[in-house]
Amino acid sequence: MVNYKEYDLYYASLMGGWYIPDNVCDEVVEVYNNNESLWVSGKVGADAIEDYEIKKSTELIIHPHNFNYIHNYLIHLGNLIEKYKEKYPFCNTTTTEWSLWGNIKIQHYKPGEGFKAWHAENGGFANHKMRHLVFMTYLNTSDAGTEFGNQEIITPCHKGLTIIWPTAWTHTHRGVVSNSQEKTIITGWYDFHPDPHTDLNNNNLDGLDYHYLINNQK
Ligand SMILES: [Fe+2]
Repeated sequence: MVNYKEYDLYYASLMGGWYIPDNVCDEVVEVYNNNESLWVSGKVGADAIEDYEIKKSTELIIHPHNFNYIHNYLIHLGNLIEKYKEKYPFCNTTTTEWSLWGNIKIQHYKPGEGFKAWHAENGGFANHKMRHLVFMTYLNTSDAGTEFGNQEIITPCHKGLTIIWPTAWTHTHRGVVSNSQEKTIITGWYDFHPDPHTDLNNNNLDGLDYHYLINNQK
């Protein structure tokens, strides 16, 4: 496996940070830049509304059917989730299986924009409640990092730095807004798999597991 440089995050933070190669970040940015017709304005909350007081961004949503466009990134991400499991084995002693599931987003923030409000990735609603872990890679370097309230950590926006953390309220966070520099990230979630006994109507059943896709792509 690639020897990933680690960004030091204290053990009790339950957060992991490692750097992926710059050229992989550039590939992802290229996917974003080449698909302007698909850009959408960032949305928030249970009703997926635009509220610029909470969040202002431009996003490219990548459905699992299109994950081949970010294949190299996903290889590194897969390696880093293994690093996270090594650091925190209890994340993997869950009753239900979990994996990369559903859409991934590339998000661009212009100067003055950001995910400004405190939030956690799992607010308990809709299919967000299936989220187990979240990942985020900074695709450029700027002064707009991310502030984690309970951990009293500000992760720096360093190109390639990939942070993985739990989705619960324990990791409530917000973007640091830069008034002079842009910021681009790629982010998504590792979800618990739907329970066929209780989640038959869960939207998440429409999700596609990338590992499933890879194994079935011939
Ligand atoms: Fe977030």
